[in-house]
Amino acid sequence: MDQPPSHALHDVARRLRLGALLAAAAFALLALGWQAVRADGAPASPAASAPLDEAQLQRAQTLFRDTCASCHGPTGGGAGMPGLGLPPLDASSPTWQKSDVELILTIRNGAGVMPGVGRSWTDDEIALVLALIRSWWTPEQQAQHATLSGTAP
Ligand code: HEC
Repeated sequence: MDQPPSHALHDVARRLRLGALLAAAAFALLALGWQAVRADGAPASPAASAPLDEAQLQRAQTLFRDTCASCHGPTGGGAGMPGLGLPPLDASSPTWQKSDVELILTIRNGAGVMPGVGRSWTDDEIALVLALIRSWWTPEQQAQHATLSGTAP
């Protein structure tokens, strides 16, 4: 013991305070992010049922190719060796089991090793790419996804 007990106590108290501070900061960030995405989530919904027109499709494909395809493959089939952790997003993946809001959150904020687009993409750009991803799913998957997203007709 090279520290007198009072110091040790002080140290513990300091760590606790730091922990609480970090937890509060994380919570605030989460709450902020959630609000941002809730606000962002709204415009994404109309695109849920509407199929993309030719210009939208091309824009979505360009966005996906430039920013996402390196990890998810050109048409969302995944990239590299299975188990490398670069998951497919197409009909072979359980991605459709996540709601639009969850997927928008992931695209905006990232997840694990995936970097989010942050503010470099607009709500509309995220909605376009999400619509592209949905277009890779089977009609059944699309229907169930719409139901769980609350966007079913
Ligand atoms: C550096 C590689 C990388 C890039 C670039 C990347 N992703 Fe990801 N993505 C991942 C990984 C890894 C996961 C799984 C994350 C996790 O949950 O740990 C993931 C998860 C996702 C998910 C959730 C899938 C599911 O089934 O839950 C979506 C949607 C997604 N990515 C879309 C995109 C889009 C859109 C882009 C382009 C803006 C993109 N990703 C760019 C690696 C990447």
